[in-house]
This record gives sequence, structure tokens and C-alpha cells, in this order.
Amino acid sequence: MRTRPLKVALLGCGVVGTEVARIMTTHADDLAARIGAPLELAGIAVRRPGKVRDGIDPGLVTTDATALVKRGDIDVVIEVIGGIEPARTLITTAFEHGASVVSANKALLAEDGTTLYDAAGRGGRDLYFEAAVAGAIPLVRPLRESLAGDRVDRVLGIVNGTTNFILDRMDTAGSGYSEALDEATALGYAEADPTADVEGFDAAAKAAILAGIAFHTRVRLDDVHREGITEVTSADLASAKRMGCTVKLLAICERAADGRSVTARVHPAMIPLSHPLASVREAYNAVFVEAEAAGQLMFYGPGAGGAPTASAVLGDLVAVCRNRLAGATGPGESAYTRLPVSPMGDVVTRYHISLDVADKPGVLAQVATVFAEHGVSIDTVRQKGKDGEASLVVVTHRAHDAALSGTVEALRGLDTVRGVASIMRVEGE
Ligand code: NDP
Ligand code: HSE
Repeated sequence: MRTRPLKVALLGCGVVGTEVARIMTTHADDLAARIGAPLELAGIAVRRPGKVRDGIDPGLVTTDATALVKRGDIDVVIEVIGGIEPARTLITTAFEHGASVVSANKALLAEDGTTLYDAAGRGGRDLYFEAAVAGAIPLVRPLRESLAGDRVDRVLGIVNGTTNFILDRMDTAGSGYSEALDEATALGYAEADPTADVEGFDAAAKAAILAGIAFHTRVRLDDVHREGITEVTSADLASAKRMGCTVKLLAICERAADGRSVTARVHPAMIPLSHPLASVREAYNAVFVEAEAAGQLMFYGPGAGGAPTASAVLGDLVAVCRNRLAGATGPGESAYTRLPVSPMGDVVTRYHISLDVADKPGVLAQVATVFAEHGVSIDTVRQKGKDGEASLVVVTHRAHDAALSGTVEALRGLDTVRGVASIMRVEGE
């Protein structure tokens, strides 16, 4: 074993960074044996130096992250600050000064991954980011490496722990939305600004990263259709239950049937209770990958939280250090297919639509006509009337999202439709 240590700079010492530093210390001997050289934590950059941090040597703490990454003797920079800046500049500066980088920053990778890949390529260094998608679950490496010889057609799953935790609590414990979000935040699952979780930005960033790797093309956050869970009500969950379903925030990335484009989307959806994703509870994540030769693979595990995420960061750290000792680098960006990302309207899905309508002759026929005019076929209709008003629940067969959303717009325009109480896509059947 080499006795000269590999020097590691840690940028950020919050929920994830604290656990990374702890494991680096407590598992130092094992990590050294697996890498073939000891690791030295050379510095820790934070925003608030006075904050008490259990198990962290105050002598290592600095607020000058730029000076740390410019030292020139740092082998690996671990970026667990989050956000776009200063993380992007710190990472590119680290590459310019000879370090490899391990990051958990899905927001930055989805927004401007190309800049990071290019900087890594120019410096001849590694950019690893297993922790950026689905916490502890090995997913990025299997897609980038294990499945590099196959053709991935679809990636579908639950990739945000906070929203899964909230929906699970609302569904099974009858918790209110705010109460469940506060609990997820206290447990360290939520982003610094939990809007990123509940509005679907975090899951959309992960979908962009997954789609890019899976389909060997560039997919950015803006390419991903995004809807969060803020509009999901306990009435939606109850309605799902009546259909033998539950509601999950899904990320779905698909290659078009003709292979000429891809789609990426994040939205809440009803899935049957019999589907394996329905039993994914709390902050767990689960992702199905469908590949031509491999068939269907399922990845499951803790999707958020300090220690699980640190596990993924440490795995990358070991891989990057091994590469460094071997004078090699791992895979870089693979975007050779240049497949375009199609809009949401091209996606084929099903809708569950709840309407408040007048309970009088001809209304059902009028509603059915609107569906027919848009080429949307109805699967089931359920009506419950009271005092001249009725609640009508329609579940469609599969159709293009553009036709389904056009149908809803037209329904809103009918005099007899008092309101569209809820719309949710139905997936997983
Ligand atoms: P936290 O908010 O808990 O920690 C962020 C850390 O960055 C803090 O130590 C903070 O310093 C430091 N920091 C913030 N701004 C600066 C700056 N300008 N210069 C130096 N340090 C700075 O975030 P998390 O640990 O939860 O998340 C970190 C990253 O990991 C994010 O990219 C997140 O998306 C990702 N991630 C998080 C997961 C989770 O479950 N929490 C799971 C998977 C990925 P200070 O302590 O002084 O405030
Ligand atoms: N806020 C994220 C989540 C952290 O809840 O999934 C893990 O990426």
C-alpha cells in the first residue's frame, strides 16, 4: 500500500457532508485498504465557521472554499454544498487545479452538466455523481457502466424521498401535507429549499440526469415536463384508493417507439396497489430500468438522508481514488445519439378526471362527446349524484397527452360542467 495519503477536500458539511466526514474517519483503515492508499481530509469548506459540528476537527474548517480547491495538492474534491453557484465555479476550478470531483449536486448536473463534463475532460480528471440520483441506490454506475452494452428503453420510478414520504404519510397515517413536509425536513430528506422537492424540481433534475445517461444524449432540466405534489389532495388519495390505486410522484424517461426521440417527465400519478412501486414507503426510492437485452431491472433503497447519501459519495470516492492511483479515468459524458427530447403532448398516458357536473338528462352524453371529438376512448365512468349536482369520475384508455389535456380544456368550457375537481395520470398498468 502507498503510504503517502490522497488528499480530499470536502465542500459543505451539512446533512450529507457531516456523514461523509464521519465515515471517512471511522472507516479510515478499510477505505485505505480498498483504495491502496490512506485518505487525508485536508480541509472542509462551510458557510458558518462558528457552527458546532460533532466529530469535525475545527482546525480543518474554512470559509474560503476557493482557496481550498486551488491548493494544487488536493486529489479529490467532494462537493456537497448544493445549488448552482458557487458549486459550479468551485468544481471547474478544482478540475483546473488537478483534482477529480465527486458531487451529489443533481440541480447543477441537470442545469449545466456539460460544463462540468467539459472541465473534467480538459483536466483529464473524473466526475462521479452516484449520490445525485436516488440517494444510496447504485443507479448511475449501473446505467453508465453495467448497462453500457445494452439499449435502455425506459426508466421509471420514485426518485424523490421527501415527496414519497409526504404522500405516504398523507395516505397511510392521515397526516396533513405541511405536517409531513416538516417531518421530512427534520429528518434531513428535504432540499435546503423544500420547494425543489414538492414542486418536482429535484425529481426533474434526477430524471434529466437519468435520461441523459440511459439514452446517451443531453437532457437538461428544462427538457423535463414537471408537476409537483402541491395540488395532490386527500380527496385524490381517497379516489385512488377506491380504484385500487395509490398516488406516487413518478419520474418517467422513455425512448420513443421509433427510437428517434426521448421524453422525460415528472408528475404525480395513480398506480395500482399491485404494482411494486405502490409499496415503496417513507423516503425510499425505487427505479425500474427496461433494457432490450437485460429486460426489466428494479433498483430499490433509501433515497435520501445523510448516511445513505454519504454511502454513495464514499463509493464514488473509492472509485475515483483507485482510478487516480492507476493513472486512469472512469467514463465521461456519453451523448453521441443526440436524440431530441419530445414535448409532453407526445407522451402516451391515461387520465383519471373528476368532474363536478349538473345532474340532468344529456350531460353524460355531452361529456362523452367531448372525449370522442378528441379521439380519447373512455375506460370507466362512475357517477354519484345529489341535489341536482353530480360528481363524475372518468378514467380514459391510453392516448396522447395533448389529446387528453385538450379534452379537459374542452370539458371546462361546457355549461353543464361546474368544475374539474382533479386530473391525474394513471400509470403502471
Ligand atoms: P445542507 O444544506 O445540509 O448542507 C450544505 C452545506 O454546504 C452546509 O455545510 C453549508 O455550510 C455549506 N455551504 C453552503 N453554501 C456554502 C458556500 N457558499 N461555501 C461553502 N460552504 C457552503 O445540504 P445537504 O447536505 O442536505 O445537501 C448537500 C448536497 O447533497 C445537495 O446538492 C443536495 O441536493 C445533495 N443531496 C442531498 C441529499 C439529502 O438527503 N440531504 C440526498 C442526495 C443528494 P453551513 O453548514 O455553514 O451552513
Ligand atoms: N431532497 C432529496 C429527496 C434528497 O428528498 O429525495 C435526495 O436526493
